[in-house]
Amino acid sequence: MAENQMDEYELQNKKIRERMDKIGRKIMVMSGKGGVGKTTVTVNLANALVDMGCTVGVLDVDIHGPNVAKMFGCENAELGSPDGVTMIPIEPRKGLKVMSLSFALDDPAAPIIWRGSLKMSAIRQFIGDTEWGELDYLLIDTPPGTGDEQLTAVQAIPEMTGAIIVTTPQDVAVLDSRRSVGFARKCGLAIIGVIENMSGLKCPDCGKEIPIFGKGGGKKMCDEMHVPFLGAVPMEIDLCRAEDEGKSWVSDPGAHPSAEALRKIAEAINYGTACSTSRDTSFLGTSFCSPTSCASCTSNCPSRKK
Ligand SMILES: Nc1ncnc2c1ncn2[C@@H]1O[C@H](COP(=O)(O)OP(=O)(O)O)[C@@H](O)[C@H]1O
Ligand SMILES: [Mg+2]
Repeated sequence: MAENQMDEYELQNKKIRERMDKIGRKIMVMSGKGGVGKTTVTVNLANALVDMGCTVGVLDVDIHGPNVAKMFGCENAELGSPDGVTMIPIEPRKGLKVMSLSFALDDPAAPIIWRGSLKMSAIRQFIGDTEWGELDYLLIDTPPGTGDEQLTAVQAIPEMTGAIIVTTPQDVAVLDSRRSVGFARKCGLAIIGVIENMSGLKCPDCGKEIPIFGKGGGKKMCDEMHVPFLGAVPMEIDLCRAEDEGKSWVSDPGAHPSAEALRKIAEAINYGTACSTSRDTSFLGTSFCSPTSCASCTSNCPSRKK
């Protein structure tokens, strides 16, 4: 890298660090396989955390399939920039800020054909040039796999709190998710836990449960790989509709088992990791912050700020 390019890179790193310092927890949502519900989990956890009073940013680094804006119902919003460099994220509701490449596209159906280097610089720009302000959480939605997007995010945000891995119970999805666990371990990224999505479908007519992708595969993998299991989210037909319409499914007070499961997971994350250091999630799942954890905590979490 030429010297002036190096300077620019370091300058951007500094900018990224300054922005990330204002954010409590930074969580990357990953999976080995596509279509297992990463974006669904990201969007629902974000809405559930906002419902709990947290301020949340969502960064969509799925360059080839940016669906976050659509699921928040803000896909037609236009990005603003006061100085031509800083990007102001879209706020679909109070307490929630969203940044996605989809806001910058003239034609949302046009394919993005980018090489790795271009994707890497776009992601670094999203992290460094977005005016996130003070946030409790930044959730990062990623494409499937362990490629440029995940690696760029992990390297650009050295204080990443950890990863949430989403899988379906099906063997092929679980196998791919093992790779996500391996990726997190290799990168020194804490694994907050695994979510088993599409865990059975309750028949809307007879109420009987149909295990479309099987059941229990995610939990079994967690036991075998010694990683925390965050919960199982069943399939629900109305969830798809809510997402297509950009409605907050998890905020809907109706008796939806998937919304209930997602709310519970958000609570476990919010209270369980509330005092976690960036690497220690060992007390995840406890219902409240434990004083001993608080005493040794070095994170920039909202509980400590109070
Ligand atoms: N628990 C669920 N019940 C019903 N539909 C779901 C559920 N989770 C995800 N979906 C649907 O499955 C599709 C893929 O989910 P998505 O979140 O886009 O996956 P990914 O981001 O992993 O590619 C979407 O149409 C979404 O609405
Ligand atoms: Mg997605």
